[in-house]
Amino acid sequence: SFLELFKRPCLIGAHRGSRALYPENTLCALEKSIGHCDFIEIDVQLSSDKILVVMHDDTLERTTNIKELDAYKSREPYKVSDFSYEELSTLDYGSWFYSDEIKPEPLLTLKIALEFIKENHLFINIEIKDIHNSFEDKEVISLVLQEIAESKIKDHVLISSFRHQYLLLSKEIQPDIPTAVLVEKKHPKNLINYLKSLRVDAYHCSDKLADEITVGNLKSTGFYVNIYTVNDPIRRQQLFDMGVNGVFSDYLE
Ligand code: G3P
Ligand code: MG
Repeated sequence: SFLELFKRPCLIGAHRGSRALYPENTLCALEKSIGHCDFIEIDVQLSSDKILVVMHDDTLERTTNIKELDAYKSREPYKVSDFSYEELSTLDYGSWFYSDEIKPEPLLTLKIALEFIKENHLFINIEIKDIHNSFEDKEVISLVLQEIAESKIKDHVLISSFRHQYLLLSKEIQPDIPTAVLVEKKHPKNLINYLKSLRVDAYHCSDKLADEITVGNLKSTGFYVNIYTVNDPIRRQQLFDMGVNGVFSDYLE
């Protein structure tokens, strides 16, 4: 399972598929990270017709060409969850990234990403975005788990989310798939008991929260620790020396 990976030291996760050099969360970015990381992280969310698409922001403005398309003028603020799979398929996810070239990239779905991971024998961290208030939590989780089951790669997947309730739901439905709590600003109170109550396997927190005592406590109670986003090689080594399992990085060597 994905947990086997944690037996290896100093893991590098390709953040949104190596987003410093290629347009994030595209198949191109995923392809370019092969051979340069131990696992790939992507963000997923639902289209209006409940197709799981690979995108970070809750709106389409930053990472597509939507503002250039007259057909969608009336659709501001361009919320991903207001667009159907067919509509999302008409956008270009690559060209925004390059300053002097037009290199279009197609929509990436979770299904295609998982096929890619399977074909290339890679490992993936699926981060489920927490922005779908219009959907039942259970539904997002069961759709993600269904995709994983259909692509038959549950042994190569770890699920994480800032919405921690998703992780408990995931464990209840599919206990074999490892999960990780994501935290940005503040460690939850009674951290270890909290993680136990959610039945997660790992803790993913921002670099600013990473300290030796917390990492030591997590490791000695059996939790794996990954830190985001760490682009500085010196900081990476400090974290590995603290006992951190892995770091998410925008730059891959
Ligand atoms: O999963 C680690 C990291 O990706 C969490 O933050 O905002 O980049 O999805 P974000
Ligand atoms: Mg992410």
